[in-house]
Amino acid sequence: MEYNVTLIPGDGIGPEIVREARKVLDKVADKYGHKFNYKEVLMGGCSIDAYGVPLTDEALATAKASDAVLLGAVGGRVGVDSWYNLPPNLRPEAGLLSIRKGLELFANLRPAYLYSELKGACPLKEEVADKGFDMVIVRELTGGLYFGERSTKEVNGVVTAVDTLKYDENEIRRIAIKAFEIAMKRNKHIISVDKANVLDTSRLWRKIVAEVAKDYPEVTVEDMLVDNCAMQLVKDPAQFDVVLTENMFGDILSDEASMITGSIGMLSSASLGAGKLGLYEPSHGAAPDIAGQDKANPIATILSAAMMLRYSFDLDKEADMVEAAVKQVIAEGYRTVDIMAEGMKLVSTTEMGDLIAERV
Ligand code: IPM
Ligand code: MG
Repeated sequence: MEYNVTLIPGDGIGPEIVREARKVLDKVADKYGHKFNYKEVLMGGCSIDAYGVPLTDEALATAKASDAVLLGAVGGRVGVDSWYNLPPNLRPEAGLLSIRKGLELFANLRPAYLYSELKGACPLKEEVADKGFDMVIVRELTGGLYFGERSTKEVNGVVTAVDTLKYDENEIRRIAIKAFEIAMKRNKHIISVDKANVLDTSRLWRKIVAEVAKDYPEVTVEDMLVDNCAMQLVKDPAQFDVVLTENMFGDILSDEASMITGSIGMLSSASLGAGKLGLYEPSHGAAPDIAGQDKANPIATILSAAMMLRYSFDLDKEADMVEAAVKQVIAEGYRTVDIMAEGMKLVSTTEMGDLIAERV
């Protein structure tokens, strides 16, 4: 089959990790007789430098017209890169929010699991790490505080900032349905996270999730307050299968979940909408401090490309193959510097990409 892929290398280590993911995709294409047509566009700081905006209409249109988007990372250093002297809506991260909204990618999937070989990097107590964990955070991505009205102005002589948290029932229903569909393919357990003891949006969230649950009798559902969830993630992460939550809570909890895997360089993500088009990116950022040094871990991006094969192209066998190749290089003891441990073999970004491509 033939697929059109928009590549967005972005800033920092983005170009290096996207290059390695492309290497692996090309190997998949070779081996299974597919064809990937790539179009590269700019987003983030590099787009600001070239065009004055973090995402041009043309770049968004290219992404919209493709079958899937593979993104490296965007952003730089606040206080160092001049991009952060611009108004907030023109900074690198605004490009990311615009593409999510522009492609209507309302569902963000962030898997977090503990590789048994990397248990040593897990910061949790040994008895907790030994139990292992394997969860996916399903984060609402185009609503809530991120996209509500905001302003900063003087009210009665006092500078006052306002952000608005708004959800309607349809926004909640569609993300809940996504989470239940995913749960059906996993261990059929959802923990829906909210702050229903305080927020109206959370009380509506609970009501709609309970309604959707009626259509999935095989899935068990538990409501959990977000502060408790933050605690449970470090106390007993094995209890989580699918975590369903709104945009802001999902942003925070997904960083916490990635931290306890001890290897944020390994974690992929997918942002999906109603159709097949999706945006795939590593869970980590642009890491400008190590950019251009062939040091970054390309595995999160390679695993994101595997998610692209699975969710946008329905190429499950090929996706399995990429994931198995990653597991194999880890089992063989190859490590980039971020996951390096005693007795293992240190490799560069390029070498890691080569090793995985060879094993596909
Ligand atoms: C993420 C990031 C973004 C977000 C930032 C860069 C706007 O933290 O993808 O989690 O908050 O969604
Ligand atoms: Mg975040």
